[in-house]
Amino acid sequence: MIEAERIFEAREALAETLARDVADELERAIEAKGKATLAVSGGTTPKLFFEKLSATGIPWSRVSVTLIDERQVPETSERSNARLVRRHLLQNKAAAATFIPLLDNPQAEKSVPFDVAILGMGSDGHTASFFPGGDRLKDALDDSAGTRLIAITAPGAGEPRLTFNLPAIAQAGRLALHIEGEEKRKVLQKALSDGPAEEMPVRALLRSAAPLTLYWAP
Ligand code: 6PG
Repeated sequence: MIEAERIFEAREALAETLARDVADELERAIEAKGKATLAVSGGTTPKLFFEKLSATGIPWSRVSVTLIDERQVPETSERSNARLVRRHLLQNKAAAATFIPLLDNPQAEKSVPFDVAILGMGSDGHTASFFPGGDRLKDALDDSAGTRLIAITAPGAGEPRLTFNLPAIAQAGRLALHIEGEEKRKVLQKALSDGPAEEMPVRALLRSAAPLTLYWAP
């Protein structure tokens, strides 16, 4: 459920504000319990936000960073979300954070609940690795599989994926949906209208009770 909308005129301003909001939230969590967990998405959209966030002066040594989803490729691949995070987020001040990769890491499930989770959306209406036609889409959208991390393949996914399931993501203290561009705004509008979640799995997130802040710039 979209609870708040932050609309920007430029991507730079969005990245700065999102970085500030995430840093504030992580600091609040650290003050309350001494540590914080941030789960981020991959793809192309988050790079600028990652760079801004990496420069914020929060106690990064108390922060664990993990991924909402991962492509099952080696970290040497340009498609690897771990590689993206290492290169663009775990830099500058944020180099002191602990990274929790998803691949070959049975401990990764323990990073739930996240204090902050940032989601993206594809123009086919996927979020996380909840792709239309995903072979384990149902397992990814509910808790019936008994694990929070689901291995999933889908025609539009490029490669097999690992994704946190929707119930795990929905537990986050703060949830943001970060999308950019006119095309994705239209996709979001369509996703907000009636229709099956299997066709546009982002609908499952939008229809869940989890309060979401939308960040959008053209
Ligand atoms: C991934 C992501 C995915 C992403 C969207 C948007 O690994 O692919 O986590 O869910 O957020 O595909 O990707 P873009 O930012 O590249 O459009």
